[in-house]
Amino acid sequence: MTAIVQISSLSIQDAAAFLKQGYLVAIPTETVYGMSAIATSATAVADIYGLKKRPVFNPLISHVSSLEEAQRYGDFSPLAVKLAQAFWPGPLTLVVTHKSASSLCDLVTAGLATVALRVPAHDLVRQLIQAVGVPLAAPSANPSESISPTSAHHVAAAFKGDPRLAMILDGGFCAIGIESTILDVSGNQPVLLRPGGVTVEAIEALVGPILTETNPDILKAPGQMKRHYAPQKSLRLNVVDPETQEGMLLFGPQTRSYDFSLNLSPKGNLSEAACNLFHMLRTLDQGSALSLGVQPIPNHGLGFAINDRLTRAAYRPEP
Ligand code: TXA
Ligand code: MG
Repeated sequence: MTAIVQISSLSIQDAAAFLKQGYLVAIPTETVYGMSAIATSATAVADIYGLKKRPVFNPLISHVSSLEEAQRYGDFSPLAVKLAQAFWPGPLTLVVTHKSASSLCDLVTAGLATVALRVPAHDLVRQLIQAVGVPLAAPSANPSESISPTSAHHVAAAFKGDPRLAMILDGGFCAIGIESTILDVSGNQPVLLRPGGVTVEAIEALVGPILTETNPDILKAPGQMKRHYAPQKSLRLNVVDPETQEGMLLFGPQTRSYDFSLNLSPKGNLSEAACNLFHMLRTLDQGSALSLGVQPIPNHGLGFAINDRLTRAAYRPEP
């Protein structure tokens, strides 16, 4: 049985007990819901991969409660410390060299020499990590390739009842609604591996220019598949002229109405659009439209991360 309970100082004690026994617990974060397990147990982490049907070459983010805890598992350069101090707790994942003495199991890092670490903003989730005593490995709590979950209900719809998942901690809708920014700071210059909740502009304002280009020589996050976040229905990008029966994700003020549509942000606010993105994509996918389309989204700030998700969601492999 999977218990769905409101996150509280009481329920995190039960969640900690389940995690210590090797069960999975779904957790709310400010970005998306995570499917967590103790990062030191190969069998518990293997259950995450099994449940999500995730390829095992795709490593997981380890969630820690503080920079000090992160430094037990990874080597932080002065630049990495500066970024952590500025953006943690929050939607930034730092990829650093994995310490050889670390107790994280190999499945978490997929055998790479680096490790991805993040301090989530949710107070009770940090308390949960402290109660467990070791980092929590947690990918987004969705089946591999599908739309990320921004509510406990989304997680339950996919996984409730699976014996490996002991508990879903309900923390309401995620405040940011799009995954963390992943920055590789293991080398000399920071490399953006995934745009996300912390904008490139905010990072560059702190540390100067970072590499954001797709350079085939640079190791990208192994999980940055072309197809990801995908709805069941086909999705068209940059649609200015919708087809009949096309379910539209709109952005900004509208001069006309559309039959099957939801507006990511009538005011044209990118934070609001990020927050609504996955939920609205799901709703349209489950509705009666035949296919889906999205209006152009400005490509700056959080719009860069939104367009990254939409491009992958729209990708269809050659038949
Ligand atoms: O906001 C988030 O980051 C959410 C919440 C739950 O924290 N988590 C999340 O996890 O989005 P996931 O597994 O869906 O995405 C993690 C990404 C994958 O693309 C993976 O390849 C990459 O992080 N990653 C993990 N470890 C890495 C490493 N050592 N080097 C490069 N990329 C890594
Ligand atoms: Mg994911």
